[in-house]
Amino acid sequence: MSNKPKGPGVIAAAEPLAAAVGADILKQGGNAIDAAVAVGFALAVTYPAAGNLGGGGFLVGSIGRESSSGTSQVALDFREEAPGAATADMYTLAAEAGHQQASLLGHLAAGVPGSVAGMVTALERWGTMNRRQVIEPALLLARDGFEMTRRTHRMLAGSSTRSQMRRFEATAEVFYPGGKAVAEGSLFRQGDLARTLETIIEKGIPGFYDGEVADHIVVEMKRGGGLISTKDLLDYRPVERTPIQFGQAQGTAYSMPPPSSGGICLAQMSTMLDRFKIVGTDAESAKLYHLLAEVMRRSFADRNQYLGDPDHVDCQLGLLQDPKRLASRAASIQRSKVTASSEFLSEEPTVKESEQTTHYSVIDKHGNGVSVTTTLNGSFGCKVVVPGTGFLLNNEMDDFTARPGEPNLFGLIQGAANAVAPGKRPLSSMSPTVLLDSAGSVHAVLGTPGGPTIITNVFQVLLGLTRLGLSPESSVTAPKIHHQCLPDQLTLEATIPSSTARTLETFGHTIARRSAMGDFQLIATAPGRGLVGVCDPRGGGAVSYTDR
Ligand code: DON
Repeated sequence: MSNKPKGPGVIAAAEPLAAAVGADILKQGGNAIDAAVAVGFALAVTYPAAGNLGGGGFLVGSIGRESSSGTSQVALDFREEAPGAATADMYTLAAEAGHQQASLLGHLAAGVPGSVAGMVTALERWGTMNRRQVIEPALLLARDGFEMTRRTHRMLAGSSTRSQMRRFEATAEVFYPGGKAVAEGSLFRQGDLARTLETIIEKGIPGFYDGEVADHIVVEMKRGGGLISTKDLLDYRPVERTPIQFGQAQGTAYSMPPPSSGGICLAQMSTMLDRFKIVGTDAESAKLYHLLAEVMRRSFADRNQYLGDPDHVDCQLGLLQDPKRLASRAASIQRSKVTASSEFLSEEPTVKESEQTTHYSVIDKHGNGVSVTTTLNGSFGCKVVVPGTGFLLNNEMDDFTARPGEPNLFGLIQGAANAVAPGKRPLSSMSPTVLLDSAGSVHAVLGTPGGPTIITNVFQVLLGLTRLGLSPESSVTAPKIHHQCLPDQLTLEATIPSSTARTLETFGHTIARRSAMGDFQLIATAPGRGLVGVCDPRGGGAVSYTDR
């Protein structure tokens, strides 16, 4: 948490060294994109559970204020892609052959990585600095090392992570030298990763997708039974998309379109909630939580049925944003009685949880705002470090409807629109969002990890800022709830009192508890205080301000 005076530039990120790297770039005169790219590469070194070169992500920005061409709202999709040899039944077949975890653990779980292409494309398209300026800080952290953080050490030392990671020789060499998790406080140097970063500095996108690094990936795929080919890597392209736009109490929010479900769900939930009167005193009341849960339930029903990669399926965005349909869905909400999810869908999965994705928010001195969420999916992705490169691969293939009818890592039961197909991107919940005020200035930059809880968390922080009149700090720290239609249960953070939970039970909700949701990184303007960066106390990040 931070509550310092206004600085013209602010970075909020889940790891302090990476936040400092971004602040340095701003101090050197870089814009918010330069800083975001530098933070992205730094997190790949300092926060290996989620920061990455071998994963993917989304960037949403309101940028261009320093240029003559003027402001624009942009969205860059650098999500992983299914390899060309992927098939809809590949994980069902793997399960029949005894590999129940094939979409999560090991080589077959990895999609073609998008992060390097995404970051370098953002820099070339909208940044002002060169690759060496923004990537070298990460390279130095990898080459010279940094003190292993408590957070990463604890994750590595956890028994299930440890036993899964140590199955892969290169992973064990990087993270378990001598068989033990790199100790907290010890100097953690990553020589191979430094060399990979140097190659990317020198060669740009081909430094990862062509040549030596690509060869290492393909050789490792063949060795470990994965599918990513030379052609898959050469063919990978980030895609610039049009952000989803939706009105807020004062202003307009921009968030990620499919293949993220974030923007559509946020737009749907906001539109439905607009039909209800809410006042600040409702915050943390059972009545408000019920209303939010019902709105969430309705939107997730659509998410799981309609959404997928828009380059492969028609997501019917017109239908999903149709004001009449949303009004009728909102009208079906009863004030103190649940609507069973079975009215929308049928199966009842159980929830499994995992925590690792990471979000960072940047505002520069020009007032540009950049919001990036990036992930390997589960902690440390598929747990495979590509030998000779120092980076981990993702397990993003599990975000597809990997085994139809069965819940994924996040308990989501998804439909045919999100079936695996060659070259297709798995549906995501990552929701990097930028909120503009009615004058078009950046009012807030928002985002968090948390699988499907990303969407509902961003929704609640937006609500706190725009309709409940909460401060940036309280919007983030306020207890969070989550409903994703299936399983038909309302998840409450532990800090919500049991008396509130009991009231919600009388409305018909089945209550589940979770200790904490998310690791929010918010920058927002607060009346009389200027820009305020808020790093979620649930995580271990930092806010960095610049005075120029
Ligand atoms: O794209 C998605 O929705 C997931 N792969 C995000 C995973 C995630 O947030 C895990 N961290 N808590």
